Amino acid sequence: MLENLKKQFSDLFGQESKNDFFAPGRVNLIGEHIDYNGGLVLPSAVTFGTYLLTAPNKDGVFRFRSTNFDDKLDIPVQDAYTKEGKEWFYYPLGVIHNFVQDGKKVEGLDLLFFGNLPIGSGLSSSASVEVVMAYALNQLFNAGYSRLDIVKLAKRVENEFIGVNSGIMDQFAVTFGEENKALKLNCESLDYEAVECNLGDHYLAIINTNKPRKLAESKYNERVSECETALKSLQHKLIINNLCDIDAETFHANKALISDAVVLKRAEHVVEENERVHLATKALAENRLEDFGQLMYASHESLKSLYEVSGVELDTIVEFSLAYPEVTGARMTGAGFGGCAIALVKKTAFEDFSTKIIDYYTSKIGYAPSVYSSEIGKGVSEL
Ligand code: GLA
Repeated sequence: MLENLKKQFSDLFGQESKNDFFAPGRVNLIGEHIDYNGGLVLPSAVTFGTYLLTAPNKDGVFRFRSTNFDDKLDIPVQDAYTKEGKEWFYYPLGVIHNFVQDGKKVEGLDLLFFGNLPIGSGLSSSASVEVVMAYALNQLFNAGYSRLDIVKLAKRVENEFIGVNSGIMDQFAVTFGEENKALKLNCESLDYEAVECNLGDHYLAIINTNKPRKLAESKYNERVSECETALKSLQHKLIINNLCDIDAETFHANKALISDAVVLKRAEHVVEENERVHLATKALAENRLEDFGQLMYASHESLKSLYEVSGVELDTIVEFSLAYPEVTGARMTGAGFGGCAIALVKKTAFEDFSTKIIDYYTSKIGYAPSVYSSEIGKGVSEL
């Protein structure tokens, strides 16, 4: 694949690529809509992601090309950039913007991107693009950023340049991911532990709803602000910095502080989901996959009923999984509103599961989902 991309690079730019990079996407095993509430999450990097081929040019221009999109951009090296549309290249351009704003020196580059993650599917295609660009610039111009600096810079791009108030989970998983490990990440302290992700005789299936995502960004920002409202209400009495600073018992004893019924449901999801992550990491470490699977189902139910970020497509996948004996657990992953679900499927039943879920989903939704078996890959690197 890389050889083919290198050929496309030289056809496009009339020179060979010099430095090539790859950043993965991620799945989140459990702990959804927790990162911006300062709790615990459990993501893993996948083996799909974004390739970036680069070579310097002498023209003082950034040339952005993608094998996935026709839109392209040639733009000179300058002190600041702004987002003027919805095209893909604003993600890497936002990274350059943050570099130059940090006072780092950059020079013209020819850049070819290729992504094999389904775009907008909740597998962090945007974090993958941001991180691969930040990692590449850091290497190419010796900018001296640590991996954690790269994570924070990529998050800044998402929050300030793109305008989505996301937490830090995606950029972190894409940067720090390790093969066959899940990252138990505390989103407040940013302490993390790479824990063995032993799925025994199961595959981790990724089922893409293939639902075109609309309004996902505005709905996401709405959830973030509902959580802020819940936190402010609780702070009238409790000394806390985040919703995840309290356990479910304290929450239930104090929930009268939250007057808005919708905001209350959101906070209840957050506090209980955070507890589920503690239980799930313990279950994983002790090879109690059945328990882990039950926590996945409980997480989905809460995202559906309390947080209201699921939808008929994701629910259909989980409903099928629940009734299929060789599935141990399933849930939506990522922001929701479409995107992907994950399921722990017995290896021996995977083919049958794929065929049957495709049929079931198609008959209910009217178009087919895509089913993959995912491996857990490593974080961003130079190839
Ligand atoms: C998106 C965001 C993450 C996180 C998840 C939900 O992927 O980018 O920061 O909030 O949604 O858990």
